[in-house]
Amino acid sequence: MSSFFGKALIVDNTVKFVEEIKGEDKLLTEYACLFAKSFKDASQLLKQSKHNIRVVFLSSSISPSHGLEELSEIKKEYPDLPVFLISHRPEREPKEVMENESSFTKIIRSPEKFSALTKEIDDLFSSKETWTDVKVSKEEKNVELNLAAEDYIPTILADFVLTPKSFFNIYIKLGPSKFIKVLNAGDPLQEDLIKTYTDKGITHLYIATDEHRKYIRFCEESSKKILKRDDIGSTKKINNVLNLGANISQSLAHSGISQEKLDFANTFLTQSVGLIKNIRMKNESLKKFIDSIEMREHCATVSFLAGMIANEVGIESLKSIKLVGIAALLHDIGLYDVDPDFKEEDLGKFNEEQLKIYEQHQKHGGEILRKCGGFDEVIYQAVETHHMRRRGSDPLNRSNNINMVTEIIGAADELHNIVITKHIDNHNLNYFLMTNLKNYSPQIEKAVLKLLQIKKAA
Ligand SMILES: [Fe+2]
Ligand SMILES: [Fe+2]
Repeated sequence: MSSFFGKALIVDNTVKFVEEIKGEDKLLTEYACLFAKSFKDASQLLKQSKHNIRVVFLSSSISPSHGLEELSEIKKEYPDLPVFLISHRPEREPKEVMENESSFTKIIRSPEKFSALTKEIDDLFSSKETWTDVKVSKEEKNVELNLAAEDYIPTILADFVLTPKSFFNIYIKLGPSKFIKVLNAGDPLQEDLIKTYTDKGITHLYIATDEHRKYIRFCEESSKKILKRDDIGSTKKINNVLNLGANISQSLAHSGISQEKLDFANTFLTQSVGLIKNIRMKNESLKKFIDSIEMREHCATVSFLAGMIANEVGIESLKSIKLVGIAALLHDIGLYDVDPDFKEEDLGKFNEEQLKIYEQHQKHGGEILRKCGGFDEVIYQAVETHHMRRRGSDPLNRSNNINMVTEIIGAADELHNIVITKHIDNHNLNYFLMTNLKNYSPQIEKAVLKLLQIKKAA
């Protein structure tokens, strides 16, 4: 399974081979591709940052130089971009091309199927990182430490993945920059550890930023394993996938966006969309999911809920649901950039300074993403307007000009902030349905009602 966020560009005019790839629907949803018949077209696609092209497959058949001139053109502009040469007839290539093997990432000889290319993508992007080599960090255990808060990422205590021995150095936060190290990497882990800490009122464990990416890898492997098992129910599977999403989201909030984190996010989205489709097929309900989850991490949960709403309004393709999912995962990035511990659901209790941050967060989030580049325009717009509504009495937050993705994220956001985190009763649920939900397009309203298993009166 690929875990890269972005697209591969295939530059080839060999009709039979390109048609073969275009027929591989399933693989194409996992490995998003763009096609160009000429280098001129390919150059145009490369220039558009929204495509986020991560790898190029260049056929020697497209030019008299058998790809050599094109390779140097690409390398001039994008020195780090991997470029593979596809040689359909290696025996007919001039010697200088085949001897140039080292200038290309690799020469792929006589590929017949798309899998010859996806295998290379897997090799390129699958993480070779392991979590088993984390060393004991220098800090002493069980004494109060002064550490920079921004260097440590929280993970929800209840989601902490227990193994017979700890792979990581684990800290508890006592105050703004006060920590205590409770476990060294390699220490045995007792099963009642979580309960002991919960009883003491501890909600999060902290892991140093550079170790935390290994923790995400570890969570990714765990959820992959659990998803494969038939004897495990969907609630447990959802919780595991959400745990992965929560840790990715925390890492985005605390140390910003990077290509590596977007690759992780892509795996989370593939896993969550797979589950959503499966749950729908089995006719299991969102209501059950809402009842079963606790105070989960906001953005990962919103991403999952948004995927469910998207699927319910008839957005079927994996690619489109993933687009909704990534926009949802990043929707509050403008808040966390200012304060990673910000909790949007506490809106009613905000002080003046927090209100100011809140007012700016859609615009600020859009700016952060546009600066990063590589996202679809719909994603920027959704982040910039996710609190705008199509209907309602608030003229400041009302607009006719908002897209479907924005509405889906808005609805998922409110479901989490209002319905889930507040554990609302039937009376309040009714209020939510009669007020908040009325501000969306009828099709969104209908989808949410259906997911909550409430039939709309005719
Ligand atoms: Fe927001
Ligand atoms: Fe939000």
